Amino acid sequence: MRIDVHFTPVGLSAGDLNGRGVVVIDVLRATTTVITALANGAKAVIPAASSEEAVRLTSNLEKDGVLLAGERKSLKIEGFALGNSPREMTPEVVAGKTIVLATTNGTPALVAAQGGDPVLVGAAANITALAKRAREVLEARSELVIICAGRERQFAVEDAYTAGRLVKVVKKGLGKVDLNDSAAAALALTAAYDGWADAFVDSDAARQLDQADLGADVAFCAKPNRFGTVPQYAERRIT
Ligand code: MLT
Repeated sequence: MRIDVHFTPVGLSAGDLNGRGVVVIDVLRATTTVITALANGAKAVIPAASSEEAVRLTSNLEKDGVLLAGERKSLKIEGFALGNSPREMTPEVVAGKTIVLATTNGTPALVAAQGGDPVLVGAAANITALAKRAREVLEARSELVIICAGRERQFAVEDAYTAGRLVKVVKKGLGKVDLNDSAAAALALTAAYDGWADAFVDSDAARQLDQADLGADVAFCAKPNRFGTVPQYAERRIT
């Protein structure tokens, strides 16, 4: 069995993931937002690689029941109904809705992971349920690919820490599981921090969110196991 971690989606091309079991992580905040929206009753989340693509996708859908969401530099994009805050995704706002979401790193990473089967969406918010599902995938397929969204095409500590936590739980008790160097490094990183809030102290993304007065989102994203939902991305939509 084998687990590969990618600290960013850079370099992954369309065919690389065909038929492979994949987990995508952007814990601050896109994958936390997706998990929260679906746990709170959204019908689907459609990730877009850019805000322009989100607008295009939305105009192809029936307007009723579609919400355009996304951020630039952490803040809601002008004219969009919602930003990228998991705290906005309340049942009152999202139940029964399809959300088209465009974020800086998270949704492009999801779009890059298309072709994986399954593509699971992960964060602290669903870590235990995610690990259970990811382990089933590893046992069935003998391999698992974990893709961190990273930040501006670079390593991001919060995603790497989440990946390490996942590797640790998924491989527990399985005997020999081969890890690529990034998976081994992510695993080592889990020993350096005492949970997500501690890892976020070293996170540029968390600092940017704090500076944008979004510290409450950072705290929201730091709490593990808010939900038992493990969203899956297939046929261009996450459900
Ligand atoms: C991203 O996609 O880079 C993040 O989700 C940005 C954010 O937290 O708004």
